Amino acid sequence: MSPQDERHEDGHENDNGHYRIVPRRVSFDWEKTPLHWIPGEPTATHVVNVLHLLLPAGERWFVKVFKEALPLVRDPELLRDVKGFMGQEATHSVQHAYVLNHLAAQRLDTADFTRHVDFLFEKLLGEAPPLGAPIPPREWLRLRLSVIAAIEQFTAVLGDWVLAAEGLDRAGSDEVMLDLLRWHGAEEVEHRAVAFDMFQHCAGRGRPRYTRRVAGTAVTAPVMLYMWAWGAAYLIRHDPKLAGRLRYSLAAHNRAVRKGLLPTWKELGAAVPRYLRRSYHPAQEGSLRRAVEYLAQSPAAQSAAGAIARAATA
Ligand SMILES: [Fe+2]
Ligand SMILES: [Fe+2]
Repeated sequence: MSPQDERHEDGHENDNGHYRIVPRRVSFDWEKTPLHWIPGEPTATHVVNVLHLLLPAGERWFVKVFKEALPLVRDPELLRDVKGFMGQEATHSVQHAYVLNHLAAQRLDTADFTRHVDFLFEKLLGEAPPLGAPIPPREWLRLRLSVIAAIEQFTAVLGDWVLAAEGLDRAGSDEVMLDLLRWHGAEEVEHRAVAFDMFQHCAGRGRPRYTRRVAGTAVTAPVMLYMWAWGAAYLIRHDPKLAGRLRYSLAAHNRAVRKGLLPTWKELGAAVPRYLRRSYHPAQEGSLRRAVEYLAQSPAAQSAAGAIARAATA
């Protein structure tokens, strides 16, 4: 079965037989969201909050790199997917940045951390290789596309996880934050294959392309793990409510995993060998059906759809 057929198996929208990826212009009201939005669970709250530290700069960077690569796209269907992907990621980036403002309004300032994230994406992974490394421009672009495809493997896994994470509901998590995470997670599942298809399309053929995929993963997985641990430790240390009484620890992290508030290490770790199988395609990742079902009832996605419908009939 081709990846495309597999997408149809899920039985959702088609536009001439092709699943259509479109951004939803959502908005969230953060006014009532408490600092510890998973009540009584500061470690789980801040481990998830690392998303807000990494994604504004990270997803802005995806869009920039894809813009650079657009002239290489020769397939009109892929081009349409890529544009839908760029629209979705740009919206994610903006919405997570609003959460950072909300954290700052509650005296949890993150600027000292996010400048490192900006440096990573804007300087180390910018248009030119860092420190004048002698990598030809086309190769540098392919490597960055490979890093994006690898990150997207994790965002698809996390997105699928959060859609099914009943532990977060049981714990009484803030509904607005849950809607942000699940709307975002659902769109990650929806566009799970686009970055991979883009990489495959632009990264040559055969063994060199596979080597590039491995290289992208080898850079991405450890850097993400490091940034996540650093980010969680930063947030916990700077949380005014905790006032330095708590430190990030693996023991507390694993307790939250057992309560279903965070994904298991196995779920995350297994994503790597799966991604490195030569025959792999992300269309097999997660459940598109569940993602589309969530989007049909997400308060933010619904009010965005309503706003578009009202504008169309005005
Ligand atoms: Fe995203
Ligand atoms: Fe994504």
